[in-house]
Amino acid sequence: MIREARVSVNRRSTRYLESGSGWPVVLLHAFPLNADIWRPQLERVPPGWRMIAPDLRGFGPAEASTAGQRVRTLDDFADDTDALLERLGIAEGVIGGLSMGGYVAFALFRRSPERFTGMVLADTRSEADSTEGQDARRKMIEMVNLSGPRAVADQLLPKLLGPTSHETRPEVAATVRRMIESAPADAMADAVQAMLTRPDSTPDLERISCPALVLVGAEDGITPLADAEAMARRLSRSRLVVLPAAGHLSSLETPDAFSRALEDFLISSM
Ligand code: MLT
Repeated sequence: MIREARVSVNRRSTRYLESGSGWPVVLLHAFPLNADIWRPQLERVPPGWRMIAPDLRGFGPAEASTAGQRVRTLDDFADDTDALLERLGIAEGVIGGLSMGGYVAFALFRRSPERFTGMVLADTRSEADSTEGQDARRKMIEMVNLSGPRAVADQLLPKLLGPTSHETRPEVAATVRRMIESAPADAMADAVQAMLTRPDSTPDLERISCPALVLVGAEDGITPLADAEAMARRLSRSRLVVLPAAGHLSSLETPDAFSRALEDFLISSM
């Protein structure tokens, strides 16, 4: 059963989802979504594990605006996650994220490496943005400010899901659209700006000595297989799993296969 709770983190009410009990597994969500993307994984938490999925600042239900507490860099998200773990009395655990959630996991690793007993890097990459990527982000900030979340959904949805999902899983597209359209415009713009300025995390890969699960949808066109392979090669204890018929949002597109891979990793590597 999934529990939904709120605690005050860095003077801000933060929602997190939780299920199971035992060793912690912390899952950080993608842009511009919220903790709900992890519901399929929380619904089948393996015995002996406690899954925790927080909303990153500005995202999630009832977050009308980040006014006054705007995110400037991904370190702000990492700082919130660190403070949440402190608040929950969690010193260490398996920590990871999908896409932007993976970028935040890298930022958290840089500030608190001792918290990681395992790492999950799903549909993400270690490199910083290219110059073209940064230009595209600046255009997206303009679009969010001018036209709002619906325009972002129109632009992002075709890329976020793989062709198989577009053809056969209309309910996933509808869920993702709903989440994007409910995200506040200022939180979106801040997160895009934070991703635009994120540092290259590639040098960190060699310092990550805990077991690491690298997951990627075979149809991921945003952070494709080559990015996952490059990370897996540099990590000393990595397992690479490619999820067939999944795009960039693999945890939602093929939730059973994602959960199975996560469960196998948790049971065999820990
Ligand atoms: C995400 O899914 O979090 C974003 O696609 C990440 C990005 O734009 O780099």
